[in-house]
Amino acid sequence: PVHIHTAVEYTLLVTLYVLQVSRKDFEGFKNLFHRFLQVKGPSIEWIKIQRPPEDSIQPYDKIAGRGLPNSVADCLNKLVVVKLNGGLGTSMGCKGPKSLISVRNENTFLDLTVQQIEHLNKTYNTNVPLVLMNSFNTDEDTKKILQKYTHHRVKIHTFNQSRYPRVDKESLLPVSTDLSMSGQSAEGWYPPGHGDIYASFYNSGLLDQLIAQGKEYIFVSNIDNLGATVDLHILHHLVNQPNGKRCEFIMEVTDKTRADVKGGTLIQYEGKLRLLEIAQVPKAHVDEFKSVSKFKIFNTNNLWISLAAIKRLREQQAMDLEIIVNPKTLDGGQNVVQLETAVGAAIKCFDNALGINVPRSRFLPVKTTSDLLLVMSNLYSLDAGSLTMSPKREFPSTPHVKLGSSFTKVQEYLTRFESIPDMLELDHLTVSGDVTLGKNVSLKGTVIIIANHGDRIDIPAGSMLENKIVSGNLRI
Ligand code: UTP
Repeated sequence: PVHIHTAVEYTLLVTLYVLQVSRKDFEGFKNLFHRFLQVKGPSIEWIKIQRPPEDSIQPYDKIAGRGLPNSVADCLNKLVVVKLNGGLGTSMGCKGPKSLISVRNENTFLDLTVQQIEHLNKTYNTNVPLVLMNSFNTDEDTKKILQKYTHHRVKIHTFNQSRYPRVDKESLLPVSTDLSMSGQSAEGWYPPGHGDIYASFYNSGLLDQLIAQGKEYIFVSNIDNLGATVDLHILHHLVNQPNGKRCEFIMEVTDKTRADVKGGTLIQYEGKLRLLEIAQVPKAHVDEFKSVSKFKIFNTNNLWISLAAIKRLREQQAMDLEIIVNPKTLDGGQNVVQLETAVGAAIKCFDNALGINVPRSRFLPVKTTSDLLLVMSNLYSLDAGSLTMSPKREFPSTPHVKLGSSFTKVQEYLTRFESIPDMLELDHLTVSGDVTLGKNVSLKGTVIIIANHGDRIDIPAGSMLENKIVSGNLRI
């Protein structure tokens, strides 16, 4: 039971009650908000941070080196694949769930996921189900689309995450005065981050249902990470720990480059592995946190978690995930905050948690149209829903692509490329301003195309640009 400490807390809870917020959302929010009010100072003391012990983050090669037994199918039958599907495609200018954006040969993120799992099930004669964690923003559109997979060999389940009220930054009172999702009221609600998975998965009843079916582990990942395929070596390692210890949680981490300075990292804290996010770092240490030499790895958000352990920790109410306070400004200019948690933050609660340092190829997120250009190009080939780097690329690293603001929205980006250029030998591409590229363009080395304000550049079909800077006005 939570005791009410302040008038604000009291008013807020009465308001939510009057609004008839569902009981589970009400309870969940009450707890989160209460913890938020209790928090004094940073959630970690910098001085207490330690480097994780040697064997707590294992290199992937060591794990893969153990080989696979004949009983892989037994491991697979214990597994459930969960995709975090609460997010929208707004940052790429799309309406609706991000998972429904086409990323490769007309296939959406969701299509690729279904193809991958179906391929596993057919190859090993298994029945790995797919679970989508939807939010109130994505549930309806996702469910409509799911009908198209009825005849695929993948059982698909969904459950909904919670819906919490945004609160005013100053007064801490809820923004919305009704529950409707139309017009301004819609701005009053938010899905509280992927850390919500533990509560909503449990509350939905699906967790128990899957345990009853003999499932033991989930593999959770962001639906927009095209590298997050089911890895049989990691699965085997999880199910058959060499020392017989029961590992309840594996976080896939990968080496940090200067482009990933903001990702969360693993630290040793009070004797346990813990996720350290930039939001938890005191201002004076932010540069240190970003440094590639001290904090060498970051969280890919590919996680392998024991279902029984989730159930136990929920029932003991033993998951106090650090609260991320996410400030937002509404259309009308009101400053609000939304309280969120991250799924990886729970690592500290599980027994014998482990990090595995995986190759970069397992982290292929599509956050922008620049990322999209890479995954649509001939740098990758598609096989049974999985993307792999083309063997024709001589360097294992991906080119650095920076598309300007006229490419931000997927629709506009698509009209600017008549076909996706050949990028096999590209190192760096910057495009900015009103630029279009014709069919069958080939880009090599470093290419910079800049149309200044009022200018337009059309790169003619069939062009080959190698180590070139194009600027000015070039119309065809
Ligand atoms: P984010 O938009 O949070 O991605 O969504 P990010 O910027 O990479 O940040 P983090 O570090 O992972 O948080 C990541 C995935 O989580 C889902 C999104 O749909 C996406 O697949 N998500 C996010 C939810 O399902 N629910 C949420 O409340 C937030």
